[in-house]
Amino acid sequence: MTRAASTAWPPLLSLLSLCWTSTVAETETIVVQAPPHVRGFLGDNATLQCKLHTQEKNVQVTLVTWMRQDLAGRPRSVAVFHPIRGPSFPSHPSFPEPGRLEFVAARPGVELRDATLAVRGLRAEDEANYTCHFATFPHGSRSASTWLHVLVQPQNKADNLEVPLSLLSQEPVPVALCISTGGRPPANISWSLDGKANTSQVPGPLPGTFTVTSFLILTPSSQINLKNVTCIVKHESFEEPILLPVTLRVHYPPEVSISGYDDNWYLGQSEATLSCDVRSNPEPTDYEWSTTTGSLPSSAVPKGNQLQICPVDELINTTFTCSVTNAVGTGRAELPILLREGPSREQSHPALSPALVALIVVVVLIAVLSVVVIYRRCFRQSRQRPSSPSANGKVSYSVVNGNASSPQELPTAGTR
Ligand SMILES: *[C@@H]1O[C@H](CO)[C@@H](O)[C@H](O)[C@H]1NC(C)=O
Ligand SMILES: *[C@@H]1O[C@H](CO)[C@@H](O)[C@H](O)[C@H]1NC(C)=O
Ligand SMILES: *[C@@H]1O[C@H](CO)[C@@H](O)[C@H](O)[C@H]1NC(C)=O
Ligand SMILES: *[C@@H]1O[C@H](CO)[C@@H](O)[C@H](O)[C@H]1NC(C)=O
Ligand SMILES: *[C@@H]1O[C@H](CO)[C@@H](O)[C@H](O)[C@H]1NC(C)=O
Ligand SMILES: *[C@@H]1O[C@H](CO)[C@@H](O)[C@H](O)[C@H]1NC(C)=O
Repeated sequence: MTRAASTAWPPLLSLLSLCWTSTVAETETIVVQAPPHVRGFLGDNATLQCKLHTQEKNVQVTLVTWMRQDLAGRPRSVAVFHPIRGPSFPSHPSFPEPGRLEFVAARPGVELRDATLAVRGLRAEDEANYTCHFATFPHGSRSASTWLHVLVQPQNKADNLEVPLSLLSQEPVPVALCISTGGRPPANISWSLDGKANTSQVPGPLPGTFTVTSFLILTPSSQINLKNVTCIVKHESFEEPILLPVTLRVHYPPEVSISGYDDNWYLGQSEATLSCDVRSNPEPTDYEWSTTTGSLPSSAVPKGNQLQICPVDELINTTFTCSVTNAVGTGRAELPILLREGPSREQSHPALSPALVALIVVVVLIAVLSVVVIYRRCFRQSRQRPSSPSANGKVSYSVVNGNASSPQELPTAGTR
């Protein structure tokens, strides 16, 4: 992604340089043009384009000067080109060592029209407004300005923060973290999920860079456990925002319910099973079955999250509890069982579920209907044409014996 974004820049830079600005009106016969913005990456080379355009033949450029505005806005010259003597670079605090600035188009003794300046090995402090001045004869001075931006692509990562769910406080806490390291300008971080974000910015590893840290702040609950959120990082150096998915993880005590009772247990039923259903993070470590009156009846045997009951006796007419423990805490559910005296009549075939009954009814209906339809069709046919030869397989031997009313029927009969 980094590479794709970097290689996408040169076309963009050249596009920007097509968008010239000039400090003088179009009607002037002599114009200096420079792009308003130039972007370059830290350590790379940037090219500050600046050209004088004129239709007139006898315009003489007597000197080109590049000025750099300091933070207070005061211009100081950093590069000068004399048409005969060539380039010179006045000492400047930002360019103390020679060689970082170069006139890439101007040549001594050649008509001076192109003042384009290269800045090698960009530094954060090179970011400034640069103005190129053409001193001309007989028209006087003309200039144009360019704002040089120095960019650094940030490194981005996102992660979830393990959150213990405190039963006492339902305060929002940081649940995920997104860091964009060493960007210039600072990256812009947002989250796909509504919620508060606490974003802060500190200096990055390289001078002039910034590290932005954003915490996603939510009220922890079992509902946000395993929820996917996306950290969205926007930066001037990215064509598209970078999307970093994070799966939230929240620790919470077991949420327990008991299933397996259909409200139709009776005395003497041979067996029954209750299940303790749990949602928790982390996984449960312990299940404990009990009753509200104390210990389990002897006919109820716990097997992990199941309670196997065999047989169903009077002692089962009670309220069962299931307590589940994980690393965070314990959750508990109760289920009252109300036994019937005996199997209710309509429930004497508990294996027949309503869906199965419906299916059987439908199958029987279809069978009956098919029989009726087939019977009626056969009946009608035999009544209409008692010895119809057109019906396949109904060629009667009477044809062979008879007065040959239809001769074609003979071979048909013979092939069979
Ligand atoms: C910057 O320019 C210098 C001199 O032309 C060249 O040697 C160097 O490779 C360039 N650096 C980059 C990153 O293009
Ligand atoms: C460059 O100039 C523009 C206006 O001309 C100003 O808004 C901007 O802050 C300047 N940039 C720097 C880096 O001084
Ligand atoms: C970051 O994004 C927000 C919301 O889109 C916007 O208001 C803000 O100006 C952006 N900041 C920067 C530095 O791009
Ligand atoms: C954001 O973070 C700062 C520093 O860590 C902290 O002082 C502040 O309370 C946090 N804000 C929120 C809303 O959590
Ligand atoms: C969350 O993302 C992971 C992979 O990043 C995926 O396997 C999982 O199905 C996603 N969960 C949801 C609820 O979308
Ligand atoms: C189960 O207990 C309830 C009262 O809690 C009672 O009405 C019911 O008759 C009992 N059933 C059996 C089979 O003892």
